[in-house]
Amino acid sequence: EAELIHRFKGISFTTRSSPELLKSLDSFDAREDDVLLVSYPKSGTHWLAGVITKLYNTQVILTSPIEFGDISKLEELNKLSSKRIIPTHLDYNMLPPNFKNKKCKMIYISRNPKDTAVSMYHYYRDNPNLPTIDTWTAFFDLFLKGDVVCGSWFDHFLSWEEHANDKNILFLFYEDMKKDLPKIVKQISLFLGLNVSDNDIQDICRKSSFSEMKSDTEKENNDPSHTVCALTSNRKLIFRKGAVGDWKNHFTPKQNRRFEEIFNEKMKLSKMAKSLTYEF
Ligand code: A3P
Repeated sequence: EAELIHRFKGISFTTRSSPELLKSLDSFDAREDDVLLVSYPKSGTHWLAGVITKLYNTQVILTSPIEFGDISKLEELNKLSSKRIIPTHLDYNMLPPNFKNKKCKMIYISRNPKDTAVSMYHYYRDNPNLPTIDTWTAFFDLFLKGDVVCGSWFDHFLSWEEHANDKNILFLFYEDMKKDLPKIVKQISLFLGLNVSDNDIQDICRKSSFSEMKSDTEKENNDPSHTVCALTSNRKLIFRKGAVGDWKNHFTPKQNRRFEEIFNEKMKLSKMAKSLTYEF
């Protein structure tokens, strides 16, 4: 089991992200028209990817996350001739510098970390590519310590929040997508410089509902090199519940107090903490 995980720059990665690939990321050649889809795991990445790929009427290709794979990954990405939509769970500091220098468009999606923790717990539990988790209590502790794949939720969020006002970065929240998807889809289309009619936006929203996406992927034959989650082919792990506030079914009052204590401490300088906590 230990060999499922290795550490790189202090962050846990699965062995599906080879150390050679991680070391070579700094030399990655970005293209000006690449779009990065950035998230901490279980924040709504698939949902956002579904929306974005539907927004284009030109040929785009959704790749697997840049940090997934072995040393041949960068070459594979180089070979793609269409516009690339590239997911990543990397911290801002670990992002290949070329994406920053070329001011590639990046969309960061985050979600109430309590719900993210619960979603990640279920994902861990049923995924043979991740270490075994015995109980929710055990996972809760690991999550707060940041001892999970992709590291600490807090570090991830804070590293990106520092750049939330950069012109090439759009910050989104899962809860806002749940509340008013057409509004957010419109916002995304404007950010990407796409001219999309209100009718098309309505259509995209219909096709991006939880139930539509869930039944779509059950029909699809998922090619691991073109999916946001290369860690499982089990789509049931991705489209689980799709709700806001499921944490209430898992957190004990004591866990909730502890979570909020740590949240308030770690996020005390965060200007965006409020957007994440209206469902606290
Ligand atoms: P739950 O486990 O709480 O259900 P990611 O794509 O980053 O791995 O995130 C997965 C989470 O997003 C899961 O949360 C999943 O159900 C939810 N999700 C996926 N598609 C969705 C959709 N169309 N609408 C709402 N939530 C969605």
